[in-house]
Amino acid sequence: MPNRFSRREFAKLAGSAALVPAIVPALVSAETSPNLHPNAPAPRHFPTGFLWGSATASYQVEGAVKEDGRGPSIWDTFSHTPGKTNNGDTGDVADDHYHRYKEDVQIMKALGLKTYRFSIAWPRIFPQGTGTPNPKGLDFYSRLVDELLANGIQPYCTLFHWDLPQALEDKGGWQSRDTSEAFANYAGYVAQHLSDRVKHFMTLNEMRSFVDIGYRDGRHAPGLTLSPAKVNQVRHHAVLAHGLGVQAIRAHAKAGTKVGLAENAETCVPVIETPEHIAAAAKAYRETNAGYLTAIMEGRYTDAYLAHAGADAPKFTPEEMTAIGSPIDFVGLNIYAPHYVRADDSAAGFASVPMPSSFPHMMSSWLNTGPEALYWGPKLASQLWGIGELYITENGASAADTLTPDGQIYDIDRVMYLRNYLTQLHRAVSEGVPVRGYFCWSLMDNYEWADGYSYRFGIHYVDFKTQKRTPKLSAHFYREVISRNGLA
Ligand code: NOJ
Repeated sequence: MPNRFSRREFAKLAGSAALVPAIVPALVSAETSPNLHPNAPAPRHFPTGFLWGSATASYQVEGAVKEDGRGPSIWDTFSHTPGKTNNGDTGDVADDHYHRYKEDVQIMKALGLKTYRFSIAWPRIFPQGTGTPNPKGLDFYSRLVDELLANGIQPYCTLFHWDLPQALEDKGGWQSRDTSEAFANYAGYVAQHLSDRVKHFMTLNEMRSFVDIGYRDGRHAPGLTLSPAKVNQVRHHAVLAHGLGVQAIRAHAKAGTKVGLAENAETCVPVIETPEHIAAAAKAYRETNAGYLTAIMEGRYTDAYLAHAGADAPKFTPEEMTAIGSPIDFVGLNIYAPHYVRADDSAAGFASVPMPSSFPHMMSSWLNTGPEALYWGPKLASQLWGIGELYITENGASAADTLTPDGQIYDIDRVMYLRNYLTQLHRAVSEGVPVRGYFCWSLMDNYEWADGYSYRFGIHYVDFKTQKRTPKLSAHFYREVISRNGLA
């Protein structure tokens, strides 16, 4: 069907294009205004104190890669290697957040954020990965934390979001057990110095991504395509780093500090919500995450994981498995796309459902939109392991954002994505799944790894030439969600 009005005609009808920004808040309010019908369902509010947040990561936003004694990371090396990233984009400048963090905290404040998740660049703290710490590196994060607290925003700190010091990679990187030890040393040092003000630390971000994409597929730093046996050993060193990191943080942090992680566990979703498919999804959740989250929650590799790996299984000791299973205070889940699963007669009891090519997705081709992932992810994890405190440490969407002549970004696709996912999160929370907070990825457009700057995930648009930040429609939407503590 043809459009009834051309854009120009519509603008004329609405008064003038210049009026459009003024109607944005009104549109958002109308959409979320209470339904007045007497039989209307209860408003979709979240529990009092629910922590609404947003997230970024050091290499994706900071820039200033050579300042104040920062050492090179594997992402500096990788992004400067011709052909490795879209357009040859690097994180050299990124969002220049290193210099603009005060302005960025004001953006957070304007949104009404209760919390902000950021990561620390390991090579700013230990430029060589180990050895003598660099006080100027820590000082940046100390100032950032002070700025957040002064504006009423709780800092949630990730210790490793993929920017491994190059000096460690030169000695084997995550293929070497020494890197797990070095991580623990670094984590303990940071916790010792920041835990007077930071109460929540996450060890590693998305082990499944940085290991599988970086060491198996070669599409992320350090760009290796290792054999299955070596990849399994890298996985083991990642979960071991987490476990040793938990122990080091407990040993060095102030009493009351909470420790967790932010993992993108494969989010298995029952293809139809019947008991048999739900049971299959629970089994699938445990087994597809056996090398990562399951190992951490259970302190062991599942029998099926070891049997499947056979001769390629990782080498490990009982002491290491105990460290890996160190009790944690909370689990953070990064949830974007669903993995649909069905019941199956095989020994495993489940099978993956292939994605039809027509399945809707956001700009990143991997980002299939299945909002119920935000229901089943936390629900299955909490049921499987009796987790008492969960966070959605990332959720968000890439979109082909364009600035319209009125200077706005009407990212209605991202708004649709967020609204639908948050509706499913509300469903989980209403059933008592203990999700305490949600971090929208991302506060602003940033360096999307090998995809460079063309894939925008922010709710603030960043003009990378001028560094100007502009709230998109999704930022207005999210601000309304936060101020109402819910979707209605
Ligand atoms: C997860 C990663 O943690 C983050 O760095 C990345 O930008 C988003 N997913 C989007 O791909």
